[in-house]
Amino acid sequence: MLQDARGVAVLTGSGISAESGVPTFRDAQTGLWSRYEPQELATPEAFARDPRLVWEWYAWRRELAKQAAPNPGHKALAALEARVPGVVLITQNVDGLHQRAGSQNVTELHGNIMRSKCSVEDIVAESREGDTGVPPSCPNCGAFLRPDVVWFGEALPVRAFEVALEAARGCDLFLSVGTSGLVQPAASLALDALRNGAVIAEVNPNETPLSRYAEYLLQGRAGEVLPALMEAAFERDPGGHGG
Ligand code: OAD
Repeated sequence: MLQDARGVAVLTGSGISAESGVPTFRDAQTGLWSRYEPQELATPEAFARDPRLVWEWYAWRRELAKQAAPNPGHKALAALEARVPGVVLITQNVDGLHQRAGSQNVTELHGNIMRSKCSVEDIVAESREGDTGVPPSCPNCGAFLRPDVVWFGEALPVRAFEVALEAARGCDLFLSVGTSGLVQPAASLALDALRNGAVIAEVNPNETPLSRYAEYLLQGRAGEVLPALMEAAFERDPGGHGG
């Protein structure tokens, strides 16, 4: 299918970064939401109540992401994009690891933890040098800066979701990688693809609500399954399909 697909939409979640040491959200024991309360850290109300706590939690996660390196799963998807025309990589991750692995065309549905934005003006902004505030202030208006990520109760970036929806509706293969498929509207993209005739393939060591719709269940870790998939599709084919 990878060899012949005209359009491939790939949706990734935190599972693809797990092997890079970035924690997932819902895995028992290791997931962030098993240790922290989303309502206290990842909502506009939480930020209004305790901006310092929220800023510091994201600063910790930003450091984890900075220290992490892309793994073979991220790299295989970058290679896929270079190999197959019409690949659209949609991610719920905010860690920037796809771009660091070499993916050029990444649609970020939940923002990026490396960027900040003004909590009032909603524009991307960085603090002035020497601003030691926690959180620092917007250089434009003086309000608190906040991470440029989507919190519970907030809408997704409009353009990013449009691109994602178009890719899902137009693809013939939808690859869901390392996501529990529990957070909307990202989770609905696979069903949009399915309704429009696409085949679903899922890469995940565990079952998800999407599994029963998937024609191919590649049960395993993204860092192992994706390189194997690339190899099977493009490197073991003397017949010439893709070379
Ligand atoms: P979850 O923590 O909900 O799901 C992670 C998925 O990755 C699970 O299905 C795991 O089985 C799977 N997984 C774990 N290790 C893996 C590996 N090595 N390879 C492949 N899969 C693996 O994370 P997300 O689905 O990303 O939203 O969560 C979606 C959204 O919920 C996040 O973007 C975040 C969170 O609240 C916001 O912050 C808005």
